[in-house]
Amino acid sequence: MTTAAARAADLRNLWTLPGVYAPQADTHLLAQALHAEGITVGMDVLDLCTGSGALALLAARMGARVSATDISRRAVMTARMNAARAGHRVRVLRGDLAGPVAGQRFDVVVSNPPYMPAPHVRRTRSHRTAVAWDAGRCGRQALDRICAHTRELLRPHGVLLMVHSGVCGVEESLRRLTETGLHCSVTDRAYVPFGPVIIKRQPWLRAQGLIGADEDAEELVIIRAERS
Ligand SMILES: C[S@@+](CC[C@H](N)C(=O)[O-])C[C@H]1O[C@@H](n2cnc3c(N)ncnc32)[C@H](O)[C@@H]1O
Repeated sequence: MTTAAARAADLRNLWTLPGVYAPQADTHLLAQALHAEGITVGMDVLDLCTGSGALALLAARMGARVSATDISRRAVMTARMNAARAGHRVRVLRGDLAGPVAGQRFDVVVSNPPYMPAPHVRRTRSHRTAVAWDAGRCGRQALDRICAHTRELLRPHGVLLMVHSGVCGVEESLRRLTETGLHCSVTDRAYVPFGPVIIKRQPWLRAQGLIGADEDAEELVIIRAERS
């Protein structure tokens, strides 16, 4: 099996409790970027918004000391369970973004945060699942906070690897990260067919000007930002 095929198989083998985000195209693209970054033994890696723990586990497999956070109790249980099954030590903490690791510094921060624009705040039972992707009307609720605060989490020459959709503004992320003094660029892109959430919201997203009339694929980007 090739390394890429082995990585994809590892992601497919993860368990997820109901309501926890199972690895998808964005997870795969970010896993590829994390692998390419060249994590070495003993590096400190933080997986913000870990979900199933997919990216945390990949970093642990590469020899990193890994911390991971998620706001969802079920996601934290899932990530801990997957780490135990794989025989890797991952410190999985429940809390808001980097809150649980405040004051600590990392060589690499990896994040697949919620980034889907949402027309309303859900107060129904589906809320628990939607936390994995809904991110306010512009889709930037978590992204803007990550852009503003990642520099404080990075050691000198530390790197942020983050994935999100073109729908919520790639230039905006680059601008905000640059404003904090990080050197950033888009290092990879993929186009994936619209999934069920975008399809359901298509009329609203079009009315907001967030997707074009003829668009039927979502652009995913990897943003790499480095501290000097
Ligand atoms: C798109 S999923 C990504 C999961 C996983 N990292 C992956 O790539 O498959 C986003 C995750 O962010 C979590 N999340 C949402 N808001 C959060 C917040 N404010 N702080 C920490 N985690 C959050 C959700 O519970 C969900 O597990």
